[in-house]
Amino acid sequence: MAAIQDRVFVVILSFFVIFVSGFSMSRSGKPFNGLVASIHKLLSLATVVFLVLLLMRINHLARLSMVEWIVCAIAVLLIVAAIASGSVMMAVESSPAAHLTHRIVPYLALLSTAAAFWLLFPKLR
Ligand code: HEM
Repeated sequence: MAAIQDRVFVVILSFFVIFVSGFSMSRSGKPFNGLVASIHKLLSLATVVFLVLLLMRINHLARLSMVEWIVCAIAVLLIVAAIASGSVMMAVESSPAAHLTHRIVPYLALLSTAAAFWLLFPKLR
């Protein structure tokens, strides 16, 4: 299970970098630093793919219950919603709705991902 724990750590680390780069962009405002913006969006895309593959791997090793699947699905959907709202924000000049969404959804995505890992914790040992 050591490899699985390492992958969980990679997801946690990715969230940290995504949040730090997001705060940095919020503080600086437009035009965003190209490198920071690229890290923020590419890492968020890589993280959702990596997380889905990780959940499928955990399910392969120890079947997830219905409740575990639901919490994992909520986490993945919220990350996708964060990616969607972030993409709209970067694509258009000004979108208050996307901005507001991107101020809330990333925190819900973080919380639900933490809840999923907490729920799966017994399976990770
Ligand atoms: C896992 C997905 C993502 C997470 C968790 C996330 C998280 C965050 C966070 C925490 C902030 C700071 C918000 C605040 O100040 O309260 C932020 C800002 C930002 N994010 Fe993301 N983000 C994600 C994906 C994306 C994507 C895919 C894009 C663009 C393609 C994007 C574009 C932005 C932009 C432009 C800002 C600055 C907003 C501003 O002007 O205040 N984000 N993000």
